[in-house]
Amino acid sequence: MRFSLSTVLPLAMAISASAQGTTSVYTEPKTGIAFETYMDPTGYAFGIALPTTPSTDFVGLLVGKGKGWAGVSLGGSMINKLLIAAWPSGTSLISTFRETPRIGNPPEANGSYTMTPIAAGTYTNATHWSYAFLCKGCILADGTTFASNASTDVLGWAFATAAPTMPAAHGSALPKHSTQGNYGMSFSAARTAKYATYAALAGAPATTPRAFNA
Ligand code: HEM
Repeated sequence: MRFSLSTVLPLAMAISASAQGTTSVYTEPKTGIAFETYMDPTGYAFGIALPTTPSTDFVGLLVGKGKGWAGVSLGGSMINKLLIAAWPSGTSLISTFRETPRIGNPPEANGSYTMTPIAAGTYTNATHWSYAFLCKGCILADGTTFASNASTDVLGWAFATAAPTMPAAHGSALPKHSTQGNYGMSFSAARTAKYATYAALAGAPATTPRAFNA
């Protein structure tokens, strides 16, 4: 989407001085899903597609490169917000929900949320890795995520060049991110009448909060 100055200014003021960046539409080529996306020069990206009337679910895209992990804070900051991290393990993609009350390695979070990979958009290759997923029950009303009716809000991103301690384990300890920050996500631009088609690309819901994809 194109931001008008009147949209950008209040948002910019809401974000801290170290924060920067906004989002624009990116059509992921392998799935055809149009994600409202934040892209960082590090190679990190997070995109989101929402129903026209969002409730608890979204379709997400998390992109990183190398053996490190990439993460998103669905509530903007690291502390007491629902975090999602993903990383490659061989040719598989591992993903995990995390939450922490303090700075440091966030433990896995347990809730009624689930992630299900969208196979076409979940892969590793020589230049980057990509994790496209259906996130069910992931928009919460307890303040740990953005609100379902938000038109814009601040999300957080984090990217580590170092690999998790045990890459094959979804509960692995994570080394600290090498880069992190915030940006303004346009949820209004992420709403699409094609949402049901996008969500249907995901397989059966995973019973555990992780994804494996060969
Ligand atoms: C693994 C161990 C981790 C450590 C030791 C750690 C540590 C920190 C520290 C010290 C900061 C403050 C900025 C700085 O001084 O660099 C920070 C910020 C941040 N972290 Fe982490 N972090 C970890 C994992 C994560 C994970 C897994 C995520 C997301 C999936 C995440 C997301 C963020 C975000 C979005 C910020 C910027 C916003 C804020 O300051 O709250 N972090 N982290």
